[in-house]
Amino acid sequence: MTIIDGKKVAADIRKELKEKISELQSEHNKVPGLVAILVGSNPASQVYVRMKSKACDEVGIYSVVEKLPFETSEEDLLTIVQNYNSDDRFNGILVQLPLPEHINEDKIIEAISPSKDVDGFHPVNIGKLMIGQDTFESCTPAGIVELLKRYNIETKGKHVVVLGRSNIVGKPVANLLLQKKEGANAVVTVCHSAAKNLKDYTLTADILIAAIGRANFVTEDMVKDGVVIIDVGINRIDDDSRKSGYRLVGDVDFENVSKKSSYITPVPGGVGPMTIAMLLQNTYKSFLKSNNYNSV
Ligand code: GUN
Repeated sequence: MTIIDGKKVAADIRKELKEKISELQSEHNKVPGLVAILVGSNPASQVYVRMKSKACDEVGIYSVVEKLPFETSEEDLLTIVQNYNSDDRFNGILVQLPLPEHINEDKIIEAISPSKDVDGFHPVNIGKLMIGQDTFESCTPAGIVELLKRYNIETKGKHVVVLGRSNIVGKPVANLLLQKKEGANAVVTVCHSAAKNLKDYTLTADILIAAIGRANFVTEDMVKDGVVIIDVGINRIDDDSRKSGYRLVGDVDFENVSKKSSYITPVPGGVGPMTIAMLLQNTYKSFLKSNNYNSV
């Protein structure tokens, strides 16, 4: 059994990007830019935005965090997004989700220029992903595919079972893995809360991707020997032995499922760090595209 070290792979990717960005900077005296827009003070969102901004600094991406009060109106946020669309300093615009309830998320995402949508959430980019065109792939799905590639895990003809049909993980990762491409070409089943006898599906999985947001939901009786487990869940559970009073666990019962697995991602340190690495990669890609630079 191999534990997939997402932290290490993400660090490798950041190092590769840092070198490329530094080379382009010395050639053109320009660096990529990313703006992260945070509305309100959701604690998890604050942590994520801080981590994203720190990762930008590390690789040489110019980053700005636009912090807006919870009361910001939808109209004002739309205007702010539009201003960043035409601001050449930024190749990527990220609006941290969730947004306050009085703001329509779909409307805001659709206002981001698809050419700066480094989260890969815009309907145009999701559509391109679905039909196999070059696009900004949503970061967590792209991170999963990258992990499988870097660990040389065969996907061609394999049965991938995805648990969860969210727009930011389940649906896009299923679409990525079924493309007729290197690193994909899998047979994909998407399961969700209405599935009857879930085990009938999960027991046939060569690769199981769990993205449902329920702590320790996948148990050892649900998987076959040799399965590859990709655990996307990040769930807080009470733990009095920790200073914080909680610890993070995935959607998979790691201790028992790992005994049957050939590969498994841990939580934390598996898929999580890859999401940010892919965001940086998308920002770099946007920078190349908007300046007509070739990759170095
Ligand atoms: N909220 C949860 N995950 C994400 C993400 O990947 N990007 C953004 N913008 N918001 C999120």
